[in-house]
Amino acid sequence: MHWLLFQNIGLLVCFHSFISAFTLETKTLIFDAYYEYVSDRLEWKDAKELCNQRSGALATVSSSVEIQELSSFLSSLKISHPVWIARKVKTHPTSSSETLILEFRGRSDSKHARLLHKFPSMNLVTVCTRLCFDPNSFGISTIFSYSIPSYINEFQLRANLIQGKPVQLALLVHGIHGPYQEAFKHDDSWHSVCVSWSQIGGSWAIFIDGRANSSGNGLNSDKIGPDGLFILGQEQDTFGDSFKKDESFSGSITELHIWDRVLSSSEIDTMEKQCSPISSGLVFKWNGAAMEIATSLTKLWRDVPCQIPGNFKQ
Ligand SMILES: *[C@@H]1O[C@H](CO)[C@@H](O)[C@H](O)[C@H]1NC(C)=O
Repeated sequence: MHWLLFQNIGLLVCFHSFISAFTLETKTLIFDAYYEYVSDRLEWKDAKELCNQRSGALATVSSSVEIQELSSFLSSLKISHPVWIARKVKTHPTSSSETLILEFRGRSDSKHARLLHKFPSMNLVTVCTRLCFDPNSFGISTIFSYSIPSYINEFQLRANLIQGKPVQLALLVHGIHGPYQEAFKHDDSWHSVCVSWSQIGGSWAIFIDGRANSSGNGLNSDKIGPDGLFILGQEQDTFGDSFKKDESFSGSITELHIWDRVLSSSEIDTMEKQCSPISSGLVFKWNGAAMEIATSLTKLWRDVPCQIPGNFKQ
């Protein structure tokens, strides 16, 4: 048996006229992984996409354990013809570990995750996350909502998804809705989004992929209140509850971090290049154990999306 391993695009082009092969898929459960054989003949790119659609990934052979497991899986099915495997993903030198990706598949009034973090009152805040929007979902889409017992719409990041238009993002602080600003193309690619807010003048800023995209002021002049509930993927109509499908998020979220200060544009730029959060002022660090995650969400462990060469910004 032999596998076709494409180390780079050049090789892929060389092999383009070669017969398309069968697809092999790795699916990752929370702590368990298994292979699934898909007997479709596809181009490599389509094979990769198919696995992703089935919330798996093309099988890899990056360690001797994987090679052994894959070999025994294939021989257990008596498969001796070539199958596709994933090409090696370039990992960033400063961080090669995998991260938890929360997949919200389709809009619902239940899929959400809640940060298990005790929030003090905040006069400065920055939230950064990596997002991928479902290209087939439209309307208002809540990335996160923070409510306090005395005020429900205390702090939110919302998107407005209009067919044929870029993703529009807006911040909302204590009921005051900032303007929707076009941010990036509404496709299924990953983007880093940072939002910051300061009580002074109610000034706010949105950064996309490490670059300043929009800013303004007048978003409230009081502190963001303490002891709230920070929920991913749903807008709260009552404290921690009353979610609505037509304001929910569909797509994937990972690497959400919160700082108790306003990060400068050069810090955000640096962070994007280094693909890891700046530690000064970091009060919430992305971590599956620091969240209560609805069982209807799909949890995947993958390399941080900024490590994918196509998405990697120099
Ligand atoms: C923000 O992003 C949009 C969409 O990519 C772009 O058209 C716009 O020029 C950006 N704004 C700034 C200030 O960079």
